[in-house]
Amino acid sequence: MKKMINLAKKTLEKGNLVIFPTETVYGLGGDATNILAIKKIYKLKKRPLNNPLICHFSKFEEVKKNCELNDLDKKLIKFFWPGPLTLILKKKKTSLIKSLLSNNKNLIGCRIPKNRIAIKLLRSVNFPVAAPSANIATKVSSTHYSHLPKIFYKETLVLKGGISQIGLESTVIQTSKNCITILRLGSITIEEIQQKFYKTKISIKNYKSLSSPGNQKKHYSPNLPLRINVKRVLKNESLLNFGSNKLKSNICEYNLSLKGDLNEASKNFFNYLHLLDNPDCKKIAVAPIPNYGLGKTLNDKLKRASYKKN
Ligand code: TXA
Ligand code: MG
Repeated sequence: MKKMINLAKKTLEKGNLVIFPTETVYGLGGDATNILAIKKIYKLKKRPLNNPLICHFSKFEEVKKNCELNDLDKKLIKFFWPGPLTLILKKKKTSLIKSLLSNNKNLIGCRIPKNRIAIKLLRSVNFPVAAPSANIATKVSSTHYSHLPKIFYKETLVLKGGISQIGLESTVIQTSKNCITILRLGSITIEEIQQKFYKTKISIKNYKSLSSPGNQKKHYSPNLPLRINVKRVLKNESLLNFGSNKLKSNICEYNLSLKGDLNEASKNFFNYLHLLDNPDCKKIAVAPIPNYGLGKTLNDKLKRASYKKN
């Protein structure tokens, strides 16, 4: 791995792209201070330029060098970094991070991941690494290198880790002096935040808001049509099941967690969507998932994955 990290470091320094594992999903990374690298990310991912990229850092001092933090930010960081928290912070004037990455605004999504390979890579370079999830825009995220679109292998260097430990994206949060606003539901649950910040106002931003454009109505979508909260499975449907129940598919079935464990379900979620998204199946039916904890995040993603324009 040492050799690969060194190669990845050189690739990033040249302004080229590296895909790396994180505990949430794989990231499509480039030098956040290099405008050409940022352009390559948007182009390869087919992402609209108004949807900002998260900057990944190896340590808190680097975040502090680039961004301003209030007391609430610092408290959140104490609980959740390194880990699946993305904080939207005000960029300092002295920062070298390019504003193309943040829709020309001075707010930057910052995160210190927990994955060993990700941290090694981030430590090896002396700039933050901009990285959206390593998938084509609106499509299913990648929690294993086998999920990556073929074109990504041609255009990037891929660091192969195992399957992502958590399997759902980071929770995106913006704070003001007294309030925590959740901009994207993720793998840190609302309940967890409420429990740690019971004295603080916590709000969830209306999804129609564009301040976190990753909250588009259509997202995380397999190529096949998807039906959620099903009571029965139709003849031509494969099944993404949860828990033990009477649902049955004649074609193919994966169970997110037979014992009804939402952590296990989250880890399996994108992997099973990739496996079901193959030409042998015609449509995907999804069993109901309880709407608390990580189930809320899963249901939010499923709703977007099943979104149909009328
Ligand atoms: O777990 C994750 O967050 C993964 C791994 C690779 O770190 N990354 C990820 O990136 O999911 P992406 O680009 O697919 O989603 C980032 C979300 C988007 O919804 C984006 O709109 C929001 O974060 N975001 C990033 N920077 C922002 C900013 N400055 N202001 C508002 N929203 C921002
Ligand atoms: Mg994404």
